[in-house]
Parts: sequence; C-alpha cells; structure tokens
Amino acid sequence: MGGGPAGMLLSHLLWRAEIDNVVVEQRSRDYVEARIRAGVIEQGTSDLLRSLGLGTRMDREGFVHGGVTISNARSPFRVDFMALVNRAVMVYGQTEIQKDLYDAGVGAGRPIVFEAENVQLHGLTEGNPSISYVRHGETASIDADYLAGCDGFHGVSRHAVPHDVRQEFERLYPFGWMGVLSETPPVSHELIYARHPRGFALCSMRNPMLSRYYIQCTADTDAASWTDDQFWDELRRRIPEEAATSLVTGPSIEKSVTPLRSYVAEPMQWGNLFLAGDAAHIVPPTGAKGLNLAFSDVYYLTEALAERYSTGSTTALDGYGATALRRVWKAVRFSWWMTAMLHTFDDAGEFEHRMQETELDYLAGSEAAQTAMAENYTGLPF
Ligand code: FAD
Ligand code: DHB
Repeated sequence: MGGGPAGMLLSHLLWRAEIDNVVVEQRSRDYVEARIRAGVIEQGTSDLLRSLGLGTRMDREGFVHGGVTISNARSPFRVDFMALVNRAVMVYGQTEIQKDLYDAGVGAGRPIVFEAENVQLHGLTEGNPSISYVRHGETASIDADYLAGCDGFHGVSRHAVPHDVRQEFERLYPFGWMGVLSETPPVSHELIYARHPRGFALCSMRNPMLSRYYIQCTADTDAASWTDDQFWDELRRRIPEEAATSLVTGPSIEKSVTPLRSYVAEPMQWGNLFLAGDAAHIVPPTGAKGLNLAFSDVYYLTEALAERYSTGSTTALDGYGATALRRVWKAVRFSWWMTAMLHTFDDAGEFEHRMQETELDYLAGSEAAQTAMAENYTGLPF
C-alpha cells in the first residue's frame, strides 16, 4: 500500500530479489510526482539508488555537499562533513527520486495501481492476507503472502494494528515551517541552518536556478496570507548578514506550511503486515531524515523477505520491526536534537536560552561534537 518513495523503492528491491509484488497507490502518478518534499539524501541512500541502477540522473543533476553552515544569531560556522567523517550528502529532490522510481517501474512494465480508493486490509493474522480497493467505480482485490504498509502518516495500514497492541510515542512542536520554492540562484553553495530569536530559517536548493527556503512560523499559519515580500524580509532578518545581502529573490512558485512532529508507532509489524516509512514514524524535517528512514526501513524489509523466500526462515522477518526501530529511534533523536537547538520556543525561559546558546557554542568549537553531527547528518549505516 502506497506508491510514495517507500513503496516504490520497496517494489524495486523486491523485483531485484525476484519477489513478485504489486504497488497500490491512492493518488494519480502526476499528483504524487508534484508533491514538494525532501531535498537532502544521505550517502547510504544515494549509494543504494546507484546500486539499483537508479542513480544516473541523480549523479548528473544532483549536488554533492561536503558540509553545511550553522548560524547562531546571524553568526555562521561550517561543519565540514568530508574532513570529519569522509562522507557527504546529496542534494536531489524527492520529486526527482519519485520520477526516477516511477520511470523505472512503469518502464519495466511492473504492476502499479494508481487512483485506488477505499483501500482495505484483510486476514492479517489468519495467514491469508489480501487487500481490496475501488478503482474507477470497480472493486478489486489482491491476495498476497505479505502486505507492506508504505502509505504514509495519513494512510490506513497503521490503524490495522489493534489499539491494545500499538504504542505511540509523540512530540508535537508548537510551530511549523513555511517553505518557498523560487526560480532564483541559491544564496549559498551549501545549506544554511540558522537559529535566530525571531525563529529558525533554512536556506536550501534544488539546482543552480531553483532555491528552497524555510522559515519557522506558528503551526496555524496560512501560507496564502503571507506575501512573497513578507517571506523574503523575514528570511533576510534571520540568516547571516552576508547571505541576507546577497539573497536573490523572485516570485514563489510554491508556498506551503508543514507542521513539525516526532512520532513513532510500535510495533512496525502485525501478523503479515509490515509498516515502513512515514506510515510508522515521522520526524521533524530539521535533520533531513524522513525520506532516508523510509529507505532504510524498506531495505531491511527486503533483506528479511529475501531470506524468507530463499531459505524458508522467518527469523529476519520476525525481527524486522526491532531491527528497523533501532535506526529509527536514532534518527528521531538526531532530528529532535537539531530541532531543539535551532528553533525558538515560546515557552522557553532564560535557562533554556542559555542551554541553546551553549549547545551551539559547544558545536562551533568542538571537533568531537561536530563529528557526532556529521556522522548522523550524513547517515548512520544500514
Ligand atoms: P509518503 O511520501 O507519504 O508516501 C505515502 C504514499 O501512500 C502516498 O503516495 C500516498 O498518496 C499513499 N497513500 C496514502 N494513503 C493510502 C491508502 N490508503 N492506500 C494507498 N495509498 C495510500 N523529509 C525530509 O527529509 N526533508 C523535508 O524537507 C521534508 N519535507 C516534507 C514536507 C511535507 C509536507 C511532508 C508531508 C513530508 C516531508 N518530509 C521531508 C518527509 C518525507 O517527505 C517523508 O518522510 C517521505 O515522503 C516518506 O515517504 P513514504 O513513502 O514513507 O510516505
Ligand atoms: C530540505 C529540507 C530539510 O528538511 C532539510 O533539513 C534540508 C533540506 C529541502 O527541502 O531542501
């Protein structure tokens, strides 16, 4: 269930392991491809895409970043990932990865059902799982050995795990990010993560003529109520002065507000259902981890299913959730740490301000602290 990045990558990995599968997606291909989301992928993720033959356009059009700038009250310092951990990240939009995944899947004639409504899961604990859905008014169903819930945070799969079994761990942040996409040259050749008393700001990019910027806003902000000029003025106030002076602005081609949340549902499996990606967990975007976690989940799931079909052993499959959750929780921790360090919290007192200042001062001056950040930002192994 779900033809987002998790579902489509899982499908590819399974076909490579010669395991038949069908992807059932609620929306149209155009709709999924148009959703503007993540921009940064870990080195392990880009290595995985390359190993699947899905890295050609990424290597041509993506950008390898060996470090980032962190700014505190407009005063910047750089964390040099390459020097610290000899690893880098790739700037290549989720929209592009999604296109590459669909092109490869559709091109190979693999079954992907788009526009499936009323998707329902059946027989999860009875050994005969299946799903049913309605497409263009016609009901259809698919029998399977296993179901993979890759249907995102608002999907149906997670809710198939009974209430008395499912544990939820959640932190809702009292703010969101307003993101703007504009056809302007990026203000910096690397990302800038900026803490400022007026709120967090992030300067990112997609390519030399496409920039992505975010500013912290209240959770209930209506993006349409902000003019582009208001957005640019607010961004300029929060980022280092040199960047503010050189910022090239233009009309926004997309403007939206994303709420920030940390959320984990355990277990990630129930009967013959396995959850992966946003269906099971959400991280605030500050650490750029959501998409990468979706990919490590489906990697573990494929390894487990491959073992099951090649040897008959379900040991890895039985341990899938526990294996995936160890990496999930570390990314949840890192994203929470980045979020806590860089955002303005309305209820923070003087003590909390000093803690943020000290955290940033320590990061700016300690190679050990920067190494820990670099190790996590470029991605823990999977
Ligand atoms: P999704 O991408 O949500 O895909 C799930 C798919 O399932 C969708 O295509 C959906 O249409 C489909 N679906 C839903 N319900 C059903 C159903 N009942 N039946 C069948 N199909 C269904 N991460 C970052 O790292 N950086 C970012 O900047 C960033 N920005 C984000 C902005 C927004 C607005 C959102 C929502 C997320 C953002 N993320 C970001 C997170 C990242 O995009 C996600 O972690 C990633 O998309 C997870 O992939 P997924 O395949 O698990 O879920
Ligand atoms: C982008 C989004 C993030 O959440 C992040 O941490 C870095 C980059 C982006 O959309 O470019």
